[in-house]
Amino acid sequence: MSVKIIVGAQWGDEGKGKVVDMLTEQSDIVARYQGGANAGHTIVVGGTKYVLHLIPSGILHSGVTCVIGNGVVIDPVALMDEIRRLESLGISMTGRLKISHKAHLIMPYHKLLDQLQESDQKIGTTGRGIGPAYIDKYNRSGIRIVDLLDRASLEEKLRRAIAQKNEWFRKVYDAPELDVEKTVAEYLEFDKQIDEYITDTTSYLNEAWRSGKRLLLEGAQGALLDVDHGTYPFVTSSSPTSGGACTGLGLPPTAITGVIGIVKAYSTRVGNGPFPTELNDEVGERLRSEGSEFGATTGRPRRCGWLDLFALRYSAMVNGITEIVLTKLDVLNNFPQIGVCTGYELDGRALKYFPSECGSLERAQPQYQMLPGWNTSLEECRTWDDLPAAARDYITFIENFVGAKVTYLGTGPGREQIVVR
Ligand code: GDP
Ligand code: IMO
Ligand code: MG
Repeated sequence: MSVKIIVGAQWGDEGKGKVVDMLTEQSDIVARYQGGANAGHTIVVGGTKYVLHLIPSGILHSGVTCVIGNGVVIDPVALMDEIRRLESLGISMTGRLKISHKAHLIMPYHKLLDQLQESDQKIGTTGRGIGPAYIDKYNRSGIRIVDLLDRASLEEKLRRAIAQKNEWFRKVYDAPELDVEKTVAEYLEFDKQIDEYITDTTSYLNEAWRSGKRLLLEGAQGALLDVDHGTYPFVTSSSPTSGGACTGLGLPPTAITGVIGIVKAYSTRVGNGPFPTELNDEVGERLRSEGSEFGATTGRPRRCGWLDLFALRYSAMVNGITEIVLTKLDVLNNFPQIGVCTGYELDGRALKYFPSECGSLERAQPQYQMLPGWNTSLEECRTWDDLPAAARDYITFIENFVGAKVTYLGTGPGREQIVVR
């Protein structure tokens, strides 16, 4: 019996998609627990690149069931696009995709509001309507998948929501108003298309767990984007940390047997907010170009810098990370020296803990240790012993600092480009 959480340990884009795909070989069910189509999880198989936004990253393995849990916010347009795209590539969803009836829907006004709010707030969101959808959820005015089943009540709820949002659009943003009839018709059509997938995923997952099935719980984003534990307000509006897996799926904490932290061998961030180890120089540029650091959802260039071990130790604490998968080690192949941040100084004093509040983070001075690079390709490496000594030392340094073992290492984007420790 194994129920493992896959959590992004940094600011997202750590390579969760590739790792989930790899670990699906040892799993029966893969379940997404939070976020929405703001996520972009990439898997590369035999030269074909798949980018998944809502569908769990286990979908490429035909015998595995994929679940979109209650904690996810679902944009029907993005979901249907993704289902069609995958089916056109010969990947069938029939009988193997399950969507929680309790998941909330992203409505057209959420996407519009997200984009309009960005003009004042400047969080640098993905514009996918995530924040406004979670606001309605917690305001108890959200519309859930289960609401699609009752046409009269759906119409009433939508009418109320659209009237309220239209007033806001008119007064605050001078934006075009939304049409109730059109929206009702679109969502009822969507209901027909996804009807076969809707189910009580909470009971399904609990039954699967109790009958000894192997579950992989896939997080989106990363711990430092968590609404509670991240660099607020420059965060997403959900709980990517491991705790979010239980609330986002209805599985009890006692079911969890491990937390796998996905860690990129350096740091990236997309969107605004503090990033102490960011390198606005040619080293940062090189990390971006060698790592192809451009957003999988929005195409934006990602900000790059050295690995922040001080932040990672905090992330390991908050998530209870039991093992690390270290990705993109190959991107560091040609750096003669590699920096790691081992602490912050603030006003001349060394901090004991990573401060997640922005005021301190913006002023914090990262303290670096420079480690020797390996200056060689990792392409042929398949085992720990194949790795150059300097790469092994880099990994051991990370393990000792963070207090968790590295069990797999990514040496390229392809499914087979992995070293098992
Ligand atoms: P996710 O959001 O955490 O799933 O990560 P993304 O898919 O947004 O970004 C990770 C990027 O790195 C993708 O383009 C992956 O194909 C790529 N990738 C994953 N693992 C490795 C690796 O070990 N080496 C290299 N070079 N690329 C990797
Ligand atoms: P995956 O799952 C990296 C960032 C956005 C922005 C902030 C809030 O691929 O790792 P939102 O649209 O969620 O309200 O934006 O969070 N962000 C991500 N950054 N990877 C992601 O997902 C992200 N999803 C959101 O850039 O800074
Ligand atoms: Mg991504």
